[in-house]
Amino acid sequence: MSAGTARSVAHRSRLAATRRLCSNWQMSNPEDADGRTPLHASGGDSVDLQQYLDAQAAAGGHSTIPLSDLLRPFMSPAVRLRAKQVATAVSRPVSRRKARDEEVAGGLKLHLGSGGNNLAGWTNVDLVGARADVAWDLRRPLPFADQIAGAVFLEHVLEHMTVSEGMAVLRHAFRVLAPGGIIRVGVPDAGLYARSYAVGDGILDDLRPGRPTRMLALGEVFQEHGHVSAWDGETLALVIEAVGFSGAVVMAGGESQIVPAPDSAVRIPETVYVEAAVPGP
Ligand SMILES: C[S@@+](CC[C@H](N)C(=O)[O-])C[C@H]1O[C@@H](n2cnc3c(N)ncnc32)[C@H](O)[C@@H]1O
Repeated sequence: MSAGTARSVAHRSRLAATRRLCSNWQMSNPEDADGRTPLHASGGDSVDLQQYLDAQAAAGGHSTIPLSDLLRPFMSPAVRLRAKQVATAVSRPVSRRKARDEEVAGGLKLHLGSGGNNLAGWTNVDLVGARADVAWDLRRPLPFADQIAGAVFLEHVLEHMTVSEGMAVLRHAFRVLAPGGIIRVGVPDAGLYARSYAVGDGILDDLRPGRPTRMLALGEVFQEHGHVSAWDGETLALVIEAVGFSGAVVMAGGESQIVPAPDSAVRIPETVYVEAAVPGP
């Protein structure tokens, strides 16, 4: 079997696993794990353009914040994000205390931008409303001591920031990681989607089925879900090393120096993961 065929077989078997996890796969897309409204009615056929545009306009998902769904029609996504950031700023003193408690418990592993995916055994950190262990705006220095953590994990977070903002978050992570500590970052693999669009290997069509055209499916990776930056393994490794981490390498989903690997099964098929370490000890 050629390397290309092996990659394709591996991809298809990961995809099959994901489909088993998503009972309504045909109507979902990878960002639906955030609770966003699916774009499609069930069934494998493409929707027509107007249906697609209407579904996109209506997409918004559900919030865990009381009254938030009721207020949604009156608040743009930007206003909602700003409201979360303000609420997170207000709760900073409480969050600092919670962070200290987490430190005391020891063996700190930080899951930054945890969203609805609180990981057991990790300190989950996100904006107010995500029900994380610690509510914190990742653009600010983390409320943890220097060199206190053994591992930091971010999955589908950096694409919601500019590359410069993402680098600032990684610098904060570098400070709190102990020498030898591991950072693992997963982002939607825009390179995978772009290659698939160009060569027509079916991956794009499998990951985002039912769009009126393949270009609309490709464009979602760059423009939808609040994405403001696009990544591939090369870019992610470059940025991680630029911050000071060493040995940045692309790792397959589910394979990690962190045991067990923290990756979310539903994310793996469209995600590129890079892992690196703080130099030393
Ligand atoms: C696409 S969701 C991913 C959630 C989770 N990691 C997952 O894979 O399901 C992106 C998450 O990043 C969080 N996020 C984005 N910017 C943030 C910031 N400045 N501070 C804290 N969290 C942030 C959002 O609140 C959201 O929960």
